[in-house]
Amino acid sequence: MKDQLTALRLAAAARIEEAADTASLDAVRIAYLGKKGGLTAILKQMGRLPAQERPVIGQLGNEVKVAIEALLHARGEELKADETAKRLAGETLDITMPGKERVLGHKHPLSIVLDEVKEIFLGMGFSVASGPEVENEYYNFTALNIPEGHTARDDQDTFYTTDGLVLRSATSPAQVRYMEQHKPPIRVLVPGRVYRQDTPDATHSPLFHQIEGLVVDEGITMGHLKSTLDLMLKGLYGESTRTRLRPHYFPFTEPSAEVDVSCFRCGGVGCPFCKGEGWVELLGAGMVHPNVLRAGGVDPEKYSGFAFGVGLDRLTLIRFQIDDIRLLFENDMRFLGQF
Ligand code: DAH
Repeated sequence: MKDQLTALRLAAAARIEEAADTASLDAVRIAYLGKKGGLTAILKQMGRLPAQERPVIGQLGNEVKVAIEALLHARGEELKADETAKRLAGETLDITMPGKERVLGHKHPLSIVLDEVKEIFLGMGFSVASGPEVENEYYNFTALNIPEGHTARDDQDTFYTTDGLVLRSATSPAQVRYMEQHKPPIRVLVPGRVYRQDTPDATHSPLFHQIEGLVVDEGITMGHLKSTLDLMLKGLYGESTRTRLRPHYFPFTEPSAEVDVSCFRCGGVGCPFCKGEGWVELLGAGMVHPNVLRAGGVDPEKYSGFAFGVGLDRLTLIRFQIDDIRLLFENDMRFLGQF
């Protein structure tokens, strides 16, 4: 039995040494020290020994057990350390790996220009308001002094939906809505989307953007209109920009004007962009028609006002020298990334 125990000890030592991980080390423990393990099997035969040999073998068995346990423990520590080291090695940060690029978004060109315009008008004490994009015919036409049968009501231009509703064809309906809600003095800017049945091309889009301006107070004149537009256009296009009003007709203003700016390409001398004119047509404006003031609940005997409506898309195309309005709506990152 002595020999058996010595052999068991050596065999266990060898297998402990070979164990490559903590799981196989556990298997070795069970094989030699477990209830059905090798050591128990040997010691079970003790009963057959002469009485005086039993304590000697018993002690030897115990020594073997302690020795194997010590080896298991030592190897276990080694393996644990190895496994930790391996795990840490696997977790190390490779600082030579290329980073993940985070692409920061930025403002759309239309928003850039709209924010510039707002900034200019906030500086003059204007508020910024909005109106519904789905309008009824009353606000879109009637309240703006556009009588039935006027070409602006033509199916060709305006998107009619159902029950006398339209997609607003201008931001002007917001004038009357705003006057209904606010008493003079009024100074308001209303930017927003507008819709017309146009086939898209370089200068037309069925959806585009306008900025409406409205000022109502006692004693407002064309002079206020001209100086306000002058300030806006100098702010957008530079101090040397000049503004010109040309007589025009709009149903909702009287008198009405079309507003030109001196050409930003040639400074007003005349070039291909302004077709040799030196001026570029930019927006419509005028003194608010008494009927429109009345529709908004404002007494035209006491108050007067001016209004203007400018295409934000056109302002933006000119500002950034973009030659096709469709680029503003296609969401092509190769285009948008340039701003
Ligand atoms: N509503 C006009 C249009 O869409 C633009 C306009 C002209 C607005 C004159 C105004 C104005 O407020 O006074 O063409």
